[in-house]
Amino acid sequence: MKMKFVYVAIAISLGVVSLKAQQKAVYLDDNQPIEARVKDALSRMTLEEKVKLCTAQSKFSSHGVPRLGIPEIWMSDGPHGVREEILWDSWGNAEWTNDSCTAFPALTCLAATWNPQMSAIYGKAVGEEARYRRKDILLGPGVNIYRTPLNGRNFEYMGEDPYLASKMVVPYIKGLQSNGVAACVKHYALNNQEVWRGSIDVQLSDRALYEIYLPAFKAAIVEGGSWSIMGSYNKVRGQHACHNDLLLNKILKGEWKFDGCVVTDWGGAHDTKEAVFNGLDIEMGSYTNGLSSGKKFAYDDYYLASAYLKGLKDGTYPMSSIDDKASRILRLIFRTAMNRNRPWGSFTSDEHYNAARTIAEEGIVLLKNESAKKKEAILPLNGNKYRSILVVGENAIRRLTEGGGSSVLKVKKEVSPLAGLQAKFGDKVKYTMGYASGKPVYDREVAPDFNTDSLHAEAVKQAANADLIIFVGGLNKNNFQDCENADRKSLALPFGQTELINDLLKVNKNMVVVLLSGNAVEMPWIKNVPSVLQAWYPGSESGNAIANIITGEVNPSGKLPFSFPVKLEDNAAHSFGAIAYPGDGVKEEYKEDILVGYRWHDTKKIPALFPFGHGLSYTQFKYGKAIADKKDISGTEEITVTIPVKNVGNVKGKEVVQLYIGDEKCSVIRPVKELKDFQKIELAPGEEKIVSFKVGKDALKFFNETLHDWVVEPGAFKVYIGSSSTDIRSIVNFVFN
Ligand code: BGC
Repeated sequence: MKMKFVYVAIAISLGVVSLKAQQKAVYLDDNQPIEARVKDALSRMTLEEKVKLCTAQSKFSSHGVPRLGIPEIWMSDGPHGVREEILWDSWGNAEWTNDSCTAFPALTCLAATWNPQMSAIYGKAVGEEARYRRKDILLGPGVNIYRTPLNGRNFEYMGEDPYLASKMVVPYIKGLQSNGVAACVKHYALNNQEVWRGSIDVQLSDRALYEIYLPAFKAAIVEGGSWSIMGSYNKVRGQHACHNDLLLNKILKGEWKFDGCVVTDWGGAHDTKEAVFNGLDIEMGSYTNGLSSGKKFAYDDYYLASAYLKGLKDGTYPMSSIDDKASRILRLIFRTAMNRNRPWGSFTSDEHYNAARTIAEEGIVLLKNESAKKKEAILPLNGNKYRSILVVGENAIRRLTEGGGSSVLKVKKEVSPLAGLQAKFGDKVKYTMGYASGKPVYDREVAPDFNTDSLHAEAVKQAANADLIIFVGGLNKNNFQDCENADRKSLALPFGQTELINDLLKVNKNMVVVLLSGNAVEMPWIKNVPSVLQAWYPGSESGNAIANIITGEVNPSGKLPFSFPVKLEDNAAHSFGAIAYPGDGVKEEYKEDILVGYRWHDTKKIPALFPFGHGLSYTQFKYGKAIADKKDISGTEEITVTIPVKNVGNVKGKEVVQLYIGDEKCSVIRPVKELKDFQKIELAPGEEKIVSFKVGKDALKFFNETLHDWVVEPGAFKVYIGSSSTDIRSIVNFVFN
């Protein structure tokens, strides 16, 4: 009897205790500050549970804490839409029927809008799609600097200029994360080529690192507040970037005070000790080598799994290391998966298609628009003038959301350029393929299913009888094109397109070339083609956006986010031989240092085919004289520079007014000029606006390697204001004291 009483008393008190524990579960309470929730959850976890958080449990998810009701983290590529569902433990597609997404334009196209508002719309919309699909992290956006036009992944990045990429990445992240879905900025850092991407050891100066390659990542973290970041595959100064003391401990978590999670690129971890000490938090991949081989379900063999647990238990690794990693991961979970206030998201909505089309329309760049015999330019195209329009080129009908590697998308809708043009010009439009490539396969080249000689001959035959040719070509998402895991083999257009364009021109010079690519291409035919559009990869609304630009329903306003060199050797990285690109198989030296892109073209006086910042409109903008309110400044003073810009043409249009700064004399080499501000303005015909910029000390600084700090040397500076990096319309001089 007495015993029974004791049992009941114990049972009741245990119940009360566990009830109390439940009530006090701060980590479950949304109203509590995140840091309190992190601390509480951590205090309830076993060592095993903490370590579990640090590794994948499937191809695209990492562990939660089932006992405490803390969910796993679900991830998806990124960055142009939400990738289709992938099998639990292999790269195969899960074959779901409800995961066909909206494809937004590739990030090069977004960067080419030079409109941060477009980034905000993009981030919000793609975040809504990710949220609807129950994702906690979207793997993107990418901000690796465009160093060479051969890099197979440039299309996923935001161009060659750190300032432009910084301004464009921040609103994307804020928009995305407003859905309670974390951004995972990638690939940190110096993953500027795909050749030997898993092992190449990048050597560069501190100046190049801080002035060129880090600013966009810093903006993503410090201004954008990105909740996660992906380490890159390559090495930097001898250590893999996924566990790199300099990049992760000193810079990211030290200088930038990042409180989020470092996620490996898939299979990017290589060593337990380095992973423990050098800043890694979550290890992703699959199989023991993270990618393709090893035994199945090897998650326990990951560098941050059993080996880490053992080392913690035997004292090899300090407990503080796992508490830090687990806290970061919990913080991420509370910001995303356990944020009950996040919106529900939406998928393939009209609003998303509108966003995709508007961004594409603002990003398409009119490279050239001249008439052959001083007649009117061909574009905007007046359909009434032509009886027959011959569309030539595989890209007019090819799905360009397919291929490319991890950014591949399964889409509900992709309007092809041909369909877009047919919708405008109806039966006048005839189509012939002209050239062909094979299917997009990630790691090899596939021969086309066509006799390409016949395609070529047929196109030339039909071109002779057409009033106008619209050639739609460029690159595609095949291996050795704009695709992960390999770089392009040359700057030339592939699949016989150069020869085809030349042969078409022999029979018909009335031609518009539309290039779809995420990279610059060589254009030996440029003098003979009157009109050229750079249309990037525009996504689901591709054809509609291109056709709206061609007809002039939308006036083009995109500007190049990177330079198009005449030939490959004109690009900085290719001027120093193999050691500068692609390296010697072990290491690579960034010998061009800070002179990347237009900084190189300008300083070395090597004209680009189309310079950074270039892009035409169907109207013309007249710039007045720039005026500064002061002649000299010092300390934290700012100088205000104003310039009138007038639309002197006949149609409404948008112009990107660009401000560059040049340091006239300095103890270290500086580029002739660097982008430090820009504004995109819209003007009706005849309308004039005064554009005003403020320039302060920060815009004048360079990174001093000895002091390890940003400094400005007093002296003369120039403000260049223009319509591109070479089309400078007005210059103002001032002195910094
Ligand atoms: C790519 C990443 C991608 C990951 C997951 C890697 O191969 O480099 O960008 O997010 O795969 O698909």
